[in-house]
Amino acid sequence: MLCIAVMLAVPVTGHAETGAAGWLRYAAIRNPETLRRDQALPAGVVLLDRSPVPLSAEQELVRGVRSMLDRTLRIDDTLPEEDAFVLGTASEIEGALPQARAGTLQPESFSLSVVHAHGHAYWVIEGGDARGVLYGTFRLLAKMGTEQDLAMLHDSESPSAPIRWVNQWDNIDGSIERGYAGRSIFFDNGAVREDVSRTGEYARLLASVGIDGCTVNNVNASPKMLSPEMIGGLARIADEFRPWGVRLSISVALNSPQTLGGLSTFDPLNPQVIAWWQSRVDALYAQIPDFGGFVVKADSEGQPGPSQYGRTPADAANMLARMLKPHGGILLYRAFVYNHHLDWNDMKADRARAAYDIFHPLDGKFEDNVVVQIKYGPIDFQVREPVSPIFAGLRKTSEAIELQVTQEYTGQAHHAVFLIPLWKESLDFDLHADNRSTTVASIVEGKAFHHALGGFVGVANVGLDANWMGHPLSMANLYGFGRLAWNPELTSAAIAEEWTRLTFSNNPEVASTVDGILLHSWHAYEGYTGSLGIGTLTDILHAHYGPGIESAERNGWGQWFRADHQGVGMDRTVATGTGYIGQYPPEVAKRYESLATMPDSLLLFFHHVPWNYRLHNGQTVIQYTYNAHYAGAEEAAQFMTDWKRLDGLIDDERYQKVLDLLIYQSGHAVVWRDAVCNWAKSMSGIPDDRGRVGHYPDRIEAENMKLTGYTVVDVTPPETASGAKGVVCEGQASCMAETVFHGASGWYDLGVEYFDYRSGDSTFRVFLNQQLIGEWTADNTLPAERMNGDTSSRKTLDGIPLRTGDTIRIEGTPDGNEPAPLDYIAVDRIVSRTDKAAGSNSPDAAQTKH
Ligand code: GCU
Repeated sequence: MLCIAVMLAVPVTGHAETGAAGWLRYAAIRNPETLRRDQALPAGVVLLDRSPVPLSAEQELVRGVRSMLDRTLRIDDTLPEEDAFVLGTASEIEGALPQARAGTLQPESFSLSVVHAHGHAYWVIEGGDARGVLYGTFRLLAKMGTEQDLAMLHDSESPSAPIRWVNQWDNIDGSIERGYAGRSIFFDNGAVREDVSRTGEYARLLASVGIDGCTVNNVNASPKMLSPEMIGGLARIADEFRPWGVRLSISVALNSPQTLGGLSTFDPLNPQVIAWWQSRVDALYAQIPDFGGFVVKADSEGQPGPSQYGRTPADAANMLARMLKPHGGILLYRAFVYNHHLDWNDMKADRARAAYDIFHPLDGKFEDNVVVQIKYGPIDFQVREPVSPIFAGLRKTSEAIELQVTQEYTGQAHHAVFLIPLWKESLDFDLHADNRSTTVASIVEGKAFHHALGGFVGVANVGLDANWMGHPLSMANLYGFGRLAWNPELTSAAIAEEWTRLTFSNNPEVASTVDGILLHSWHAYEGYTGSLGIGTLTDILHAHYGPGIESAERNGWGQWFRADHQGVGMDRTVATGTGYIGQYPPEVAKRYESLATMPDSLLLFFHHVPWNYRLHNGQTVIQYTYNAHYAGAEEAAQFMTDWKRLDGLIDDERYQKVLDLLIYQSGHAVVWRDAVCNWAKSMSGIPDDRGRVGHYPDRIEAENMKLTGYTVVDVTPPETASGAKGVVCEGQASCMAETVFHGASGWYDLGVEYFDYRSGDSTFRVFLNQQLIGEWTADNTLPAERMNGDTSSRKTLDGIPLRTGDTIRIEGTPDGNEPAPLDYIAVDRIVSRTDKAAGSNSPDAAQTKH
């Protein structure tokens, strides 16, 4: 007995969690107040409809209550003579408990209420249909998990729009385009995996936030997706999805009739081509009766498309849509169609114009089960873009907004960036079409222009990694995507808080710390990667990860910002520029056309201005660029400090994983800051009026150290290494870089900037005189095999007591193709570490204490 009592008293906060449960952890409720309240909950559940989706709801309720309250609900077939949870669709509830009817419920909607009848209290989860029952159950469990008072249970919700889908960019070989969390949960080696159990777990997560569709393969689709073997495999995935109300759909390559079907053409109007597609659609529906439809990327980035035959996107879309229609399937045609061989010398050329130029003339020509799928901005998931004008340019065609959950341009699985505030800015943006309020949300919901369909598509790209998205905090984006698609009116703060409570803890200290990081993270990331609407200044030709600023200029991809010695920014005005601004409805166009009304945050997207142009906020463009990048990097460092408050308040595994990532992020934010600031300084020739950029008195460059074995190399682009140079250890077992410390004696943090290639695990050892003070292995998986902004990384050794004249030595041991590359060391004086120095910053005092 005593043993059990002691065991029960042990706190559980320290136990390890992989993150696999996501926000469906159903952590045991420990708050005595909540527990006392929840005593009033019924002991049983009755399900009035035993079809697969409501059955999932019942099982989920039993599972959640068991896990949170340590009680097993009794399952009854009929309404019991005692309090109970009652689950069912409207007609069933009507029969069993007429007092409970909530009025008309639309498909997928639900109502939660407590009804008193026959002397008992019934907690009723009523769905407009089977999915509604499931969504209502998940909502109830989320309320329990966030410790809301269920006695007041009264909620009635409908989804904002019918399409709430995720796209996965999985390739059939098992890799994932722009996926950062391991290999595909769907495919391996050219086929659907044998074991698809993880896909059911994914569908459960999706359903819990109201997502009702999943496109399982890359928009750059393999024609093999339509082979008979593949369709058999897809049917197995659909079986896993079905109990969770998630419909399976696929992306298709328009040239499939030719490459897979062996026809001589893929002209969408050719009768043989049409017959071939019909046979594939028939085969799909024969095995997957609830198949959702197709997603099409065509005439874009090398993908085949109807333009090859002089046909329009409407010709191709309608041909497929007509076949899907009798089965209730839909056709999502992506508006991401543009020419990536634009002429950089043509000042009128503009990639941003493409979607409107191509799709606006086709408005009204699409079948009613075609939906045009539009990225939030006219370029490509940048850290900030204006909303795409085509949202207001399609009045008679259904539209869906495409948001990117996977953080391609926003730090991948290495930086914490909560994207909900970015998405909210797009969704809340009022395009003022027809001189009335038409927010992007109201357009994609189908309300503004009375579209038949519409909704939200999130490019999710989860992988086989236990925690789904690589970075534990990235799951907040998947959660938030679902919640926003369900209800775009929700605030970022409400979504962050709900996710944090369910994912980590209801402890107020945990909630406020995690929410604080999430809610500041987009702003911080924008600050250090590309401000004033210039776009994410990453290497656009490769990984889209670290700084690679000029990669966007002087090529056909059209992500230009046209920087030169005089000024920076794309002139997209009607008066003197590409005319893109004229694609917006007049009120918005007027605001963007004039510098007087142009918001600072998007200035460089729309206007070319001198570097010393003064913003509305009073700073010049160049000084703001410097300030924003410094402020962003400082914010990132603050996240790391803030997170440390959670030590002991959450499980160790996730605490440590996030801490390591935030430490890395704060170092990489400095890489970004320095790269962009040094580039801007050399481009503009204007120094930082606060003297920071290009002056690093605390840095000792590796190329200036005493080198044994190491050789000095130039780094390209030059701004991605301090002083444009680094050192590499080639053809040696190990090398050394050594320096004598000439600064004042005291306590210091020692930052070692090194490069960590995707392959190769070099080791580094740091010595203070003869004493080893730090060692680590460069084993992060960063997306490059050379010294650049992707691979530059920092290791910080905290609290090192240095005396004038000390020797600091770094020993690098290469591994594989990674030559233990170094950039510099930063020696930062710790000014106020009173606990260590005990009132004295003398190294003698410090070293005795150390
Ligand atoms: C981006 C991304 C590609 C992707 C494309 C798309 O350009 O880098 O990998 O294929 O978007 O959305 O189609």
